[in-house]
Amino acid sequence: MSSTYLIEGLKCLEYRGYDSWGLAFKIGNNIEIKKEVGKISDIQIKKLGFPESHLAIGHSRWATHGKVNKTNAHPHSSENNEIVVAHNGIFENYLEVKKVLQKKGHKFLSETDSEVIAHLIEEHNKSHSFEESIKLAAGEIEGRYAIVVMKNDENKIIAARKGSPLIIGVGKNQDEYFIASDIPAFLKHTNKVIYLDDNQIVTIENGKIDFYDTVRREKIAKRIIEIDLDAETAEKGEFPHFMIKEIMEQKDTLARAINQDPAIIEKVAGEIKNAFGTYLIGCGTAGKVGMVGEYLFAKIAKKHINFSFGSEFANYKDFLNKKTLLIAISQSGETADTLEAIEIAKAKGVKVAAIVNVESSTMARTADIVIPIKAGLEKAVASTKATTSQLAILTLLAYTCDGGVKTGKQLLADTASQINDMINPRYEEHIMKIAKKISNVESMYIIGRGLNYPIALEAAIKLQEVSYIHAEGFAGGELKHGPLALISQNTPVIALVANDNTKKDILNNAAEIKARGGYIIGIAPENEDVFDFWIKVPDTGDTSPIVNIIPVQILAYQLAVLRQNDPDKPRNLAKSVTVK
Ligand code: G6P
Repeated sequence: MSSTYLIEGLKCLEYRGYDSWGLAFKIGNNIEIKKEVGKISDIQIKKLGFPESHLAIGHSRWATHGKVNKTNAHPHSSENNEIVVAHNGIFENYLEVKKVLQKKGHKFLSETDSEVIAHLIEEHNKSHSFEESIKLAAGEIEGRYAIVVMKNDENKIIAARKGSPLIIGVGKNQDEYFIASDIPAFLKHTNKVIYLDDNQIVTIENGKIDFYDTVRREKIAKRIIEIDLDAETAEKGEFPHFMIKEIMEQKDTLARAINQDPAIIEKVAGEIKNAFGTYLIGCGTAGKVGMVGEYLFAKIAKKHINFSFGSEFANYKDFLNKKTLLIAISQSGETADTLEAIEIAKAKGVKVAAIVNVESSTMARTADIVIPIKAGLEKAVASTKATTSQLAILTLLAYTCDGGVKTGKQLLADTASQINDMINPRYEEHIMKIAKKISNVESMYIIGRGLNYPIALEAAIKLQEVSYIHAEGFAGGELKHGPLALISQNTPVIALVANDNTKKDILNNAAEIKARGGYIIGIAPENEDVFDFWIKVPDTGDTSPIVNIIPVQILAYQLAVLRQNDPDKPRNLAKSVTVK
């Protein structure tokens, strides 16, 4: 295996973290490690002259424990440098284990929880085999993890998982295997995969692969699955960034979301009708989509559904039982907080439906029913096309619950075609005018009501993520209870307007802001006197959240570019957050 494979693979996984990176190569009976701060996408393989090796481990980090520096980057070595580990997840009890190891003489170089794993394995390795030491260490780690381990004098790589994804790629060449936290890392080389499940360990040695289940305490056989993923969709093509490519793809993705197996939508709608308590959960943007869902069901299906962020869901556990339905929303299907909420629900016998983009994800494989959104690979950290597809699915579900599947589908199909007309170069140029005007502001605000209140919150996330401008979303009615004090001369405020029962009130709220010096950017079907700048959207009724968020996505992207930020990899963030 060459270092090129490893580095190219890591470049495809950078969306999981990109503050620093590291590589470990087994060369003879030594392990050579190289680490750097920054993005691996910035390095030139040839210039660095990495060693060739047939056993190697790479990692790109999203810091949890310890600052972003070379020492804290993975892979980490044990005390005697014989054992090397790359780790995803959080070793929750690492401080206790670290103390025990320190008493035994172990000295630690980094501030990370991950380094403790290397030392722990080494400690067990004093009296047990390499494999056995990993099994023993795995049994002591509390929390979620995926680890990949090498030893200087062993011709093998061993990996284990609990809670964080690990997938094995079966290479086209005999004896060639890849282990990664997501398929794109090796998709160029193979589409044959084996999913490692929780509490399983894989050992790859001289082209031989073995699996072990730590709960059943026995060797197990695993199935090879051929997946249908197109490596091409991972390319930027003619676009300068993935974010704008993915925004533009919304011309097609909505149609793909709604033109899928109607039986699945009917089934989930049936479950909602029969459930005694339905919860929508999600994190980040998917969470804001879930909040819109609460409004959509109230408005269209006249049904009260509870929303909770994945990380807050545990607070409702006393209300869960076999009649409860949980609908989890996630682009990646790997978000730790959402997965943990699902585990809590499942333990109470709750039925779980998942609205996900990545159909091979842990969430998709754990849920009882899966509604795939079919948006295709989304690479930019800031979610765009997955958002509108998730919104489309929830709208369709709400209509289906009310017996209006046909009406819902027609409305969404019309919306898709109106979006197709809306996003064109002239539209982008128009939005660029306002982007240029506000590119140096310190703060901006977004207001909405009803269906568009959670969209105001999502708009704020989008602007924060990539422009780094302080942006906050508010319910129009809440302004007078505090946020109005933030408005001064020329503070930009985006008013999200829908042609529904909230229109009059949100325009009044915009007027209240304008009266205090605010500069009103109206996203609305019609131009209104109160607007200083108008961005037109089609009048689509209940799909206004879908059409209203798109111009904000474009604005956020343009602000990022104008402010010389990387819109695809914003600072401090990661696309797939597999830690709590
Ligand atoms: C991260 C990403 C967001 C995403 C959120 C939830 O914070 O940066 O774009 O909305 O995770 O991710 P999920 O994959 O569950 O939708």
